[in-house]
Amino acid sequence: MKTKIFCDIADFKVIKHYNKKKIVDGFTTNPSLIRLAGAKNYKNYCLKILKICKKKPISFEVFADKPEDMLSQAYKINKWGKNIYVKIPVVNSKGIFMGKVIKELSMQGIKLNITAVYTVDQTKKILKCLNKKSRTIISIFAGRMADKGKDPVPIFKKSIFLSRRNKNVEILWASTREAYNYTQAKNLKCNIITMPPKIINKIENFGQDFRSMTLSTVNGFLVDSKKSKFSL
Ligand code: E4P
Repeated sequence: MKTKIFCDIADFKVIKHYNKKKIVDGFTTNPSLIRLAGAKNYKNYCLKILKICKKKPISFEVFADKPEDMLSQAYKINKWGKNIYVKIPVVNSKGIFMGKVIKELSMQGIKLNITAVYTVDQTKKILKCLNKKSRTIISIFAGRMADKGKDPVPIFKKSIFLSRRNKNVEILWASTREAYNYTQAKNLKCNIITMPPKIINKIENFGQDFRSMTLSTVNGFLVDSKKSKFSL
């Protein structure tokens, strides 16, 4: 089973570059990444991206906080393209589970990416809301957990086990922090991992042996010492 690599980015030029690359199977964005890309108008910016990324799956997130507004945004976003996964946060800012939103959209056959997932309980609740014929990604935020000293692996293991009977559910390793996370996601048989461009570049260079790593490490220190003309 292949663990697909998605690029976690909203910058138009970067998407243009990675859309041509075979290693990248799709893209994820979020409102913060779209802001970081300098977008002034959410819809126009997404449409600009979609002119380039026409086939590979791409997630665009709702940014409303009330369930009814989320639904209305989700229906609009879904109409922008066939390759879109509408991203819905698992809870809103009040901590309320967005089950009704997920259920309605899934029943309509809208492809979803349920985001900001941190617990097995959330995975369980999401799975109960899904139309088994409709495609859904569940994004578990590994890096943000690890940043707080928590191990994401057991949460993935259980979530992957729970979703095993629903072939239209894909578990996504989100919030990637280092290249080794790809190895972890592959070992777990995660369907997808999304990562920033700099980590994709590192993965393209996987496979260097320890001997040449030790040599390039030692050489790096030597070169820097010479550049700084260190003497003792
Ligand atoms: C996933 O779809 C998110 O956009 C992303 O992975 C969040 O990562 P971060 O924790 O680096 O913001």
